[in-house]
Amino acid sequence: HRPWPGLIHAYRHRLPVHDDWRVVTLREGATPLLPARALSELTGCEVHLKVEGLNPTGSFKDRGMTMAVTEALATGKKGVLCASTGNTSASAAAYASIAGLECAVLVPKGKIAMGKLAQAVMYGARIIEVDGNFDDCLELARKTTAEYSSIALVNSVNPVRIEGQKTAAFEIVDALGRAPDVHALPVGNAGNITAYWRGYSEYHADGIIAARPRMLGVQAAGAAPLVLGAPVKDPETIATAIRIGSPASWNQAVAAKEESGGQFRAATDEELLDAYRLVARTEGVFVEPASAASVAGLLAATGDGWIERGSLVVCTVTGNGLKDPQTAMADGVRSVTVGIDPVAVAVAMGL
Ligand code: F0G
Repeated sequence: HRPWPGLIHAYRHRLPVHDDWRVVTLREGATPLLPARALSELTGCEVHLKVEGLNPTGSFKDRGMTMAVTEALATGKKGVLCASTGNTSASAAAYASIAGLECAVLVPKGKIAMGKLAQAVMYGARIIEVDGNFDDCLELARKTTAEYSSIALVNSVNPVRIEGQKTAAFEIVDALGRAPDVHALPVGNAGNITAYWRGYSEYHADGIIAARPRMLGVQAAGAAPLVLGAPVKDPETIATAIRIGSPASWNQAVAAKEESGGQFRAATDEELLDAYRLVARTEGVFVEPASAASVAGLLAATGDGWIERGSLVVCTVTGNGLKDPQTAMADGVRSVTVGIDPVAVAVAMGL
């Protein structure tokens, strides 16, 4: 039993990495595919959670970032730059720190979760707050890197990011021995749905799976351009990770939906928060609000019959709940105070 080497070494033959490149890795990937007992019982399906919050910086972004920073280092870049709603910035900062590259992150001012900002600070990134939303940040990142060739753009518009992220689909198939019937995931800038679809499609083309899943892409209702079929000028949602009005990988996301016979769906903030609480209280998995979109989508789609009973469903939960303590504590902490008194503790437990 050898220790997990990180996803580039594990899936090297399927990734555009040259043999003589130094691989920049934090041993990302190999995340749990967790059977979800309560969700399975509730929906009549066989539900698994792909727990991406257990990557080194707490989100799926590490899969793409090991590739993007490996390439940036190998091609002689001096620094990396990204626009981010928080997770990409945390990941870029961590991988840049081990590569010895400068890192700057462009974030929408006041709109990223506290834990993500703390990560970027600790990993030593330069934090640049932009008076605008994610879409404005991405435009600025694209313009800057177009003009300065020593700076690598490490958003998912960088094709190697998608290559790294497709490995999550490989891991799911490797674990299940087949593809699920339905794969549900949150959609913001639409890189991840693009990546999963590519991963499933590669395995399908090579005959490793007989069929590909229907892709269920779930957006927040206040930031649901793919559901509406048009960009949203002022996206708004409590799920700040997916507060995006103009997804960069729009066409690829639509292709994934169409080719898979899939669907885009919107979940209201209330539905997101309900799913967020449910998955913590019944499955023991604390995710961030955006990540609960996959579970909210599962509940809605089994509710109206788009997902049939008995289906094998994988929900990707993209980021760790610890990143956003403020949303978790927004309703206050319900507690009781006791003395050093076992009776009072037992009473407090209701036992
Ligand atoms: N879930 C989480 C926790 C995210 O951070 C993101 C995107 C998504 C889902 C959506 O993935 O953009 O590939 O469709 N976060 C980016 C960021 C935008 O900057 O961290 P997507």
